[in-house]
This record gives sequence, C-alpha cells and structure tokens, in this order.
Amino acid sequence: MNSAATPGIDAGRRRRQLPAELSAFVGRTDELAALAGLLRRGRHVTVTGPGGVGKTRLALRAGADAANRYADGARLVELSGLADAALLPVAVAQSLGLRGRDPRPARAAVLDHLRGQRLLLIFDTCEHLTAAVARFAAQLLRETDGITILATSRQPLHVAGEQVLRLGPLPVPEAGRDPAPGGAVELFATRAAAAAGGFTVSDAELPDVIRICRRLGGLPLGVELAAVRVRALPLSELADRLDAGFSVLAAARRGAVPRQQTLRAAIDWSYGLCSEAERAVWARLSVFAGPFDLAAARDVAACPLVPAGQVGDVLADLVDKSVVLRGDGLGDDLADGPGASYRLTGPVRDYGAEQLAAAGQEADARQRHARRYRRMARSFLRHLLADDQAARLGELGAEHADLSAALEHGFAADQAGRRRDAARLATALLPYWLMTGRLREGIRWQDAVLASAGALTDESSTGSSAGPSTGWSAGSSAAVSDADSALAAGALASRAVLGAMLGRPEAVTDARAAIAVAARSGDDRAGGLGYLALQLALGLGLGPGPGPGGCQESAAAAAQARPLLAGAGSDAARRWLDIQLGLASALGGSCTAAVAAGRRALAGLGPGERWLHGYARITAALALYRQPGRRPDCAAAAGEALSAMQDLGDPVGQAYALEVLGWLAADDGRLERSAWLLGAAQARWELAGGRLGGNPVMEGHRARSAAAAARVLGAGRCAELHARGAGPPIEQIVELAVAADDALPSVPAPRTAWDDLAGTAAGRGGAAGQQDAEELTSREREIAALVAGGLSNRDIADRLFVSRRTVDAHLNHIYAKLRISSRVQLTIWERDVRPGAPPDKLSPVKRA
Ligand SMILES: Nc1ncnc2c1ncn2[C@@H]1O[C@H](COP(=O)(O)OP(=O)(O)OP(=O)(O)O)[C@@H](O)[C@H]1O
Ligand SMILES: [Mg+2]
Repeated sequence: MNSAATPGIDAGRRRRQLPAELSAFVGRTDELAALAGLLRRGRHVTVTGPGGVGKTRLALRAGADAANRYADGARLVELSGLADAALLPVAVAQSLGLRGRDPRPARAAVLDHLRGQRLLLIFDTCEHLTAAVARFAAQLLRETDGITILATSRQPLHVAGEQVLRLGPLPVPEAGRDPAPGGAVELFATRAAAAAGGFTVSDAELPDVIRICRRLGGLPLGVELAAVRVRALPLSELADRLDAGFSVLAAARRGAVPRQQTLRAAIDWSYGLCSEAERAVWARLSVFAGPFDLAAARDVAACPLVPAGQVGDVLADLVDKSVVLRGDGLGDDLADGPGASYRLTGPVRDYGAEQLAAAGQEADARQRHARRYRRMARSFLRHLLADDQAARLGELGAEHADLSAALEHGFAADQAGRRRDAARLATALLPYWLMTGRLREGIRWQDAVLASAGALTDESSTGSSAGPSTGWSAGSSAAVSDADSALAAGALASRAVLGAMLGRPEAVTDARAAIAVAARSGDDRAGGLGYLALQLALGLGLGPGPGPGGCQESAAAAAQARPLLAGAGSDAARRWLDIQLGLASALGGSCTAAVAAGRRALAGLGPGERWLHGYARITAALALYRQPGRRPDCAAAAGEALSAMQDLGDPVGQAYALEVLGWLAADDGRLERSAWLLGAAQARWELAGGRLGGNPVMEGHRARSAAAAARVLGAGRCAELHARGAGPPIEQIVELAVAADDALPSVPAPRTAWDDLAGTAAGRGGAAGQQDAEELTSREREIAALVAGGLSNRDIADRLFVSRRTVDAHLNHIYAKLRISSRVQLTIWERDVRPGAPPDKLSPVKRA
C-alpha cells in the first residue's frame, strides 16, 4: 500500500516540502492520532470543521508527521485563492512544480506525473470547490495507487471512500476549573506571551482568560486574535468588551490570508457559501443561547422560506458546512435526528443575530423562542412533585442559558405582551430558582418584573397601600389590570421567598406588599404565596425580632396562606408551607411539631420526589439536634437529606444538611471532620449568596462549631480543612459525610499543567501539608480582608494605591502561605478561621 517508504527522496526533504510552522502548535494529541490512523486505513481523509478551528494546522502537522511514510513525501495544494473550479488541475500542477515543464494539459500532466509516485497530497481549503475537488480526487485515486489525499474543508466532499474527521474547537474549562493542557487557555497564554514579551497569566487573571476563551467558543483563530490584544487592553477589559461583541477583534491581522484576517471575514466566507434557506435558519438559530435539539430548532427556526417540516434538512446542511456544531463538536458521530444536540459558537451566533435583525425577523424568532421556554416551565410546574423530579429539573437546568435569554430579551422588548410573558416566566420559575440554589438570580428576575410594572416597585419598598399605576404599556396611564397586579404580587411574593432564604430582612416588606397587591386584584394564588413568604421570613427570625409577636404573626400568616393556596390549587406551595412550619417549630425547639409538619408535607408523595423529602429531613435534623439522646437520629436525618439534595443538585439543601453534620461532629470533638464539613457547606452557601436563612439560632450553632475547631486545630489547619471540604465534587462529599470514620476529602486543586504553565500558588505550594499555615504580613492581612469583602484585584489596587500586579503578587503569597488556591477559600479563612477573628465575624450575615 501507500505506506511503504521506498528510497525516493531523503527524509529531511520529505518534511521540508510542507511549509514550516511559524508559531507554536498546541494540543490536538488525540486528533493527530486519529488522523494518522485514518491515513493508514484509507487513501482519502477530509478534515472538516468551522472556519478558524485549526483544520489547516492539523493537516500540515499530520502531513509532516506522516511524510516519511510516503517515498515522495507530502505536498500542499492551497486552494483558498482559487475562484475558478476549472483551474483546479492547473493549481495542482503548479504545486507539484510541473508548470512550464510539461506542455500537456494540466490534468493529464498531473495524472501522468503522479502515476508512479507515493505521495501524500494535501488539498487545503476545498469548501468553495467541493464538486470539482471531489471529481478530481476520485479520478486521482482511481488512476494511481500510491497517492493519498488529505483534504481540509468546512464541508465534506461527499465522495466514495472519503473518511471524515470532524474537528471541534479547543477545550475550554468551566469557570473556576483548572485548564487542561493543550486547550484554548494554553493557546491564549502562548500567543499572548509572543505578542507581549514576558506576558504570563497569573492565577488571579485566569478567570478572565477562561471567560475570553469561552466567549470565543475555544476557536483557535478567535483566541489568537484576542491574545494579541493583551498588548493594548487589560484582560478584564478585553473579556468585558468581548461579552459586548466581537468588534474588539476587528483590527485586521497582518500576514494572514484575507479569510482569516478577522473573525468576521472567516464567517463571511462561510455565509457566502450558504443557500438562502440555510442563511434564514442560521439567522433564526442565533436566538438560542445554549445547545438545542431538533424539536427546539423546528419551534424557533420555521419561517415562510423554511417550513417546520424542512428545518431538519436545512439544519443537517448547516452541520455539513460546519456552521452549526453537533454534539460536543469533538468528532462525535451521532447522526442528525431527535436525540442530537446542536450549538453555534459565539461568533457564528452573533453573526446570525446581525442577519436576523437586518431581516427584521428578530421579534418573531424571539417570540417563538420565549413561547417554547414558557411551555417547558409550565410542564415542569405541572409535574413538580412527580417521581421523576430530579430528571425534570436536570432537563430544565440544561436549558438555563436559554431560559435566561428568554427572560432577558422579553424584558427588553418594546411590546408589553412580550414583557408580560417574561414576567410570567420569571415568577413561574420560582421553584426552579429555589431548587437550583439560584436565589440571587431569581431575585434579579423578580426585580425585572417589578421594574416593568413601574410604580409597583415603589409600593414594594414602602409597603404602602396606594394603588399601583401601570408600567406595562409605555406611556399609557390606563388603570393597571388585575392580571398585571397579580403578576406584580407574584413577583413580590417570589422575591420575598427567595430573599428570606438568603436571610434578607426586606423579605418581610416584600411579603406584606405582595399580600396587599394580591388582595386588590383578588388573586388568591399570589396572596397565598405572599402569606407563605411572610411566614417563612418571620419564622426565620427576619421580622421585627424574635419573640411572641413574631411567632404569632408567623402562625397567623400560615393560617391565612393555607386556604388561599388550597383554593388556587397550589398543592406544592401548600406542602412547602408545611415544611416552613416544620422549620419554625424546629427552630423554636418543638421537635414533635416539626416532625409532624414534615410528614404532612410528604403525605402521598412517591420516593422519587426529592426536594420536599430533602427539606422534611432537614427540618427533622434541625429539630433533633440538641434533643437529648437523639444525635444518631439527627445524623441519619441529615444524611438522608444530603442524599436527596445530591440527587437533585440543590446546593442550598446540601448546605443545610452539611451544616448539621458539621455541628454534630464539633459537638463530638471530631473537629477536623467538622471543619471540612463546614467548608463544604460554605462553598455551597457562596453559590447561593446567603447562609442559613440568616437565622441567629443556626448561625450560633455554626459559630460555636467553627470557633471550637479554630481553637484546637489552629487557623492554618482549619483553612486547609475548609478548602478540602470546598473542593471535591458532591459525590465524594456525600460519601465521606455519611461515613462513620473520619476520613478526609482528597486534597483540593491537584497539581495540573496549568499550575506549571502559570506558576500558580497551588502548583508551587503543592499538596496541603500538615503543619500550620505561615503568618501573613499586615499588608497581606489587609488584602485578605478586602478580598473577603468582595473587592476585585483592580479595586484593591485602586484602594491601596498600588499596581494591580502588586496585588496579584500579594495574593499569590497569601495563597502559598495558607496553602489555598482560590478567593472563595480565602474568604472562608478570613471569615471563619483567621486568628483573632471577632465573634461577629463568625456570623457574616449582616442583620438589619
Ligand atoms: N493546534 C493549534 N496550535 C496552534 N495554533 C493553532 C492550532 N490550531 C489552529 N491554530 C491557529 O489558529 C488559526 C486558524 O487555524 P487554521 O488556519 O488551521 O484554521 P482552519 O480551520 O483551517 O480555518 P479555515 O476554515 O478558515 O481554513 C491559525 O492562525 C492557526 O495557526
Ligand atoms: Mg484552513
């Protein structure tokens, strides 16, 4: 076959026939191995993928690696500048050095020349000439037996015997994760270092680099264009500007082929090769913020030019052209169809959005998109307490980016109807915000509902009973409809529930306003929700203060809520009310009442319902804590709660369960265990943005446990254990949290290639040791406190009149001394375990 390397030309020359690489090559180990395998198995491979993804780089690298297997080496035929397909044989003849040497027509000369050769022929950039290249390739393979073809094209050539390697973008880590070697972050760091001599990405800057790479979807061309901007812009500003659009990368880079001088040019090239129908569907698909499936594409992309029944075919064509990516884009072979998932990279999406706006189709596509997500939310609510609750929550969670996009565009719309729809979605999603721990985000959307409702927000802040004016239809002074008032009441009540979970005292005011507005509009559901929120806020002690007054009002609110919710058919809310009553009883020391309320909440529910089950176990655990002789029952309840909340992925529920286990461990003198459990809980509270509903009783338990551990173990060891609890995934936490022995979670932040690359503290400090952390200098203590106060490195630099790099350096020293690796861990250290932390520091939730 083609692999026998006969003497032909010498090895060095075989490699030199291909252009030299002018910049460092990054990653692609698996893809190179796959490509080598395909070249060994057959005589024609096409590398496909979006513009700028790295097809040419990969093909040239693979060609150089394989050149020695072909006696006559490897040759490149670059086709991007060839507009006329009829001149293809001439271009090949030229690349082979035959022009001027052979007087025959080019096709015959090329075929004759290649007949006796063993050669790898690389056809680079074929998508605009697919038919011509396909024909020529077929003829070459038929009439020679030593020629192997490696093509690069945004679209396969669709010729018999063609093996296709789909090339996806470079991997980008999730925010907060260490980058794997060979990914987009490494390419960025390499190119930025080349552009701005000595540039390195510090630990503190890593999140911005990840943000930049994510925004660019890991596309190497985009990453390179962004990396050279570090000469002119700080990373954080570059990331912000990219979030706003790609114009920051508009400056053409010199020396590149025109198609790759800007990101836009790369996409223009693909757009130019699409049919009208493909362009229309591309534009409409741009409204998806995240991955979508075929059904979603049909819902949104159907239009007069492309009826719903044809969207699937056009979508398949767009995948073929590498405009739309299928699956994770990394060579997955799932055929198009109902199970497949699709996505657009950021630049391709933005380009489509521009076309959509220019065609005047944006409102229609967005409306269809919003309708789809409202339907999903409604279906989730209908089956909220079903046995497949966790799976349904997972499905909705997978659409998070699109839920947010539907809300964002809905609230920004000109039409009152679209804003109303967004408001309905924002309030309907209350259980979703709660179950996923997205409490602050949920509040933000209720703020948007109330801002849309104009003067209703004033009412919410004053709690006055003045009639609301309308904010729904711009410029209209018509009286607000009952439906709009009900929406505002629902938003106030939702904000109150979410705020109460975060321990915000304003929750009480919001709940009262919700009740007042709902009463006027006669909306029982919103009214019931308002009373429910009031009970929760007062039950957590957020009202005028603990004592009989608060308790009575809380009980009265529950009594008001129950019939209203029953009348509105809100079974889930009615059961949640029982959970709240159980919580209030537990905090008030009434164990029997707490357990009974939990049972009521669960009556008739299947075991697959995890949320109420989890919270019922949490209230039981809180009630049993401090009951003489009931510690094993308390631990068992907390363990069951943790497992339910693991199934669901609810970080707030997980945090409550971990807290109780942490307090129990401290009481038993198992202080190391207590410290890591509280660290695990704290990491989850950080996600939610509040802690323990701001309740003083629970905060007291936590403060006592944290102080005991700090006293005996010392600050350094405590910080280390907190970090150990904060790092690992929930599976590991649950396994150890319910185990009888005192095994510790594995060391966080294992040494990675990123540590080598960036020289971060985690990499330098290595695994957490057993000895105490070093003392911080006064400047370092000052910076640690500012970090814990939520200031960015830039803010700290401004505040202390030093450069940002100085702050970065201090932070790296702090991390190394405390043997931690993140701001979250530093915040925990500062709040809970810093030597001499004042008692009020142990309870960071500020009370009004
Ligand atoms: N693995 C890699 N390592 C380093 N740089 C890379 C890598 N992959 C791509 N690049 C860089 O990204 C840019 C785009 O890559 P390339 O030209 O190979 O993309 P392409 O997929 O062939 O694009 P087009 O469809 O426009 O031909 C180039 O500047 C290239 O050097
Ligand atoms: Mg190319």
